[in-house]
Amino acid sequence: MKKYLIGSTLLASFIVIGCASTTGSNNLKDGADVALPKNYESWPVFIKDIEKSNGEIRDIYVNQVGTKAKKGEAFANGSSFVMAIYKTKDDGYGGKQKGDLAKVFVMTKGKGNGSQAKINNGDWAYGAYNAQGELIKDTNYDGCRGCHAPLADKDYIFHYDQYFDQKVSLNLPHDHSVLAAYSAATGK
Ligand code: HEC
Repeated sequence: MKKYLIGSTLLASFIVIGCASTTGSNNLKDGADVALPKNYESWPVFIKDIEKSNGEIRDIYVNQVGTKAKKGEAFANGSSFVMAIYKTKDDGYGGKQKGDLAKVFVMTKGKGNGSQAKINNGDWAYGAYNAQGELIKDTNYDGCRGCHAPLADKDYIFHYDQYFDQKVSLNLPHDHSVLAAYSAATGK
């Protein structure tokens, strides 16, 4: 019975991860914890245009599985976050605007993800990629884990509260289907 349960859990998480076109595995080549999802820019926006004091602008996307979570809950296995990190450039009016893509960071949740890591962040695995989608060699994944680890009560996600608060106040899912419906209805 126990064997059967473990088997079906693994199978279920495999299917979920497969649908989201991501791979969560501890055994990927080159030491990366988790692969870069290919189509993340079409995913629902989690939080966009986060301006950092170091001059970066960051956009965070969440896959469909992740959008199912409700405030106060943890994200389900198969949830994935991608953070696109941009440099800034002069906007020509004395301000800054988004420049070239610098890096792409990934977090994907799956049973046993990161279980080999020194710092355990509740089944999240991490990956760091350059603008070309290649693994950034020699990434210190304990560094990722260590900085996210204090957020255990927010399922290790930084803008957890902001996201759910915005969701409630807009009363709309942050996703492209809404925009598509809007433009279909208005022709804009
Ligand atoms: C110094 C602390 C720190 C380190 C180290 C760090 N992060 Fe984060 N991470 C953050 C913060 C803060 C955010 C929220 C976005 C923002 O405000 O910049 C974030 C957001 C994220 C997100 C979006 C989900 C969320 O929590 O909002 C991903 C994915 C992510 N980080 C992956 C990584 C990866 C991969 C590494 C290691 C290569 C890493 N992080 C290292 C602080 C850190």
